[in-house]
Amino acid sequence: MTNPSRILSGIQPTGNIHLGNYLGAIRNWVGMQNEAECLFMLADMHAITLPYVPAELRACVRSTAAYYIACGIDPDKSAIFPQSAIAGHAELSWILTCHTPLGWLNRMTQFKEKAGKHKDNASLGLYSYPVLMAADILLYRATHVPVGEDQKQHLELARDIAGAMNRFYEQELFPLPEPVIMKQAARIMSLRDGTKKMSKSDESEQSRIHLSDSNDAIATKIRKAKSDMLEGISYDLAARPEASNLLSIYATIQGISIDEAQATCGALNFSSFKERLAEALIAHLTPIREKYHLLMNNPAYLDGIMHDGISKARIIADDHMRHIKEVAGFYSASHDRKW
Ligand code: AMP
Ligand code: TRP
Repeated sequence: MTNPSRILSGIQPTGNIHLGNYLGAIRNWVGMQNEAECLFMLADMHAITLPYVPAELRACVRSTAAYYIACGIDPDKSAIFPQSAIAGHAELSWILTCHTPLGWLNRMTQFKEKAGKHKDNASLGLYSYPVLMAADILLYRATHVPVGEDQKQHLELARDIAGAMNRFYEQELFPLPEPVIMKQAARIMSLRDGTKKMSKSDESEQSRIHLSDSNDAIATKIRKAKSDMLEGISYDLAARPEASNLLSIYATIQGISIDEAQATCGALNFSSFKERLAEALIAHLTPIREKYHLLMNNPAYLDGIMHDGISKARIIADDHMRHIKEVAGFYSASHDRKW
C-alpha cells in the first residue's frame, strides 16, 4: 500500500460470516489498523438489494459487528458502523448515479450473477448497487479499499466515477481509491468444487466453513472436502483446483507462503493433509468463536461501539457532504444567508 490515508471497507450483514470473508477481507483489515485511519462498515443498505427479512437484518448487523471485533478489529482504533445510519451514503449515491453512464453499469458481472435468469424482476437497487458502493468509498475520500478479488470490478467503477466527478466539477473532489487485494486467499473456493467461489449463496452448507462452526463441524467439512486422485499435495490451479484451494487456506491460516506450505505438506496424502488443515483451522478459529459468543452476550457493549462508530463516521461524512452539495449547486440554508 502506498501512503494510505484513509481505509474503508465493509461486508453485507446477510448471514453467517464464512472463511472466504475472513481470509479474503476481514483478516487483512486487522493489520491495516496501525497504518491509517480505518472505517469498517456494516453494509446494511446493500443487504436490501435482494429479498430479506427486516428483523433478521437488524440482528445480523449486530452479530457482524461482533465478528469484526472477534476477528481483531479494535474499536478504539477503527470506526465500526452501520451504513444506513449515515445519510450521506444515500445522498451521495444519488449524485453519483446521475454521473454514471448506463454502459458502465451494464458491464458489471456481479449483477448478472445475482439477478440470474429473471433480470426484469431484479430491483433497480441491485442494478445500481456498485454506485452505492462507490458512494460508500468516496463519501469518506477513502484512499484504500481492502476487499476480496470478486469486488475488483466494483472498485474500478468507483475509480471511474471519481474521475468523472472530478472532471465535471473541475476540482479534486475525490482521490481515486485503490483496491487492496491480497495475493494469497483473495479468492477462497468452495469445499465441494474448487472452481466455484466459497459463497453465502451456495445452497450446500458443506461448501463453506462458517466462523460459527463447531470444531466437529470444521473437522467434518474438511474431511469431506472434495479432493483428487493425484499423489501428494501440490499447488496447481488448473490441474488441481481443490488441492490448491486447501493448500492456500492452510498457508494463509498458518501465516506462511504457499511454497512453504507445499514444502511442509507436499509429501502427505490427502487424508493426513486434511487432518493437519482441520487442526490448524480449529486452533485459529476457536478463539474467534469464543470471543464472538462473549461479545454477543453483551449487546449493550456492541451497540455502544456502533454508536461511537457512527459519531466518528458522521463527522467526516457530514463535512464532505456539505462541500459536495455546495459544489453540486444544491440550495442550503447557510448558503442562503450569505446572499
Ligand atoms: P460479501 O459477503 O459479498 O459482503 O463479501 C464481503 C467481503 O468478503 C468482500 O471483500 C469480498 O470480496 C470478500 N469475499 C467474499 N467471498 C470471498 C471468497 N470466497 N474469497 C475471498 N474473499 C471473499
Ligand atoms: N459490495 C461489497 C461486498 O459484497 C460490500 C461493500 C459495500 C463494500 N460497500 C463497500 C466493500 C465499500 C468495500 C467498500 O463484498
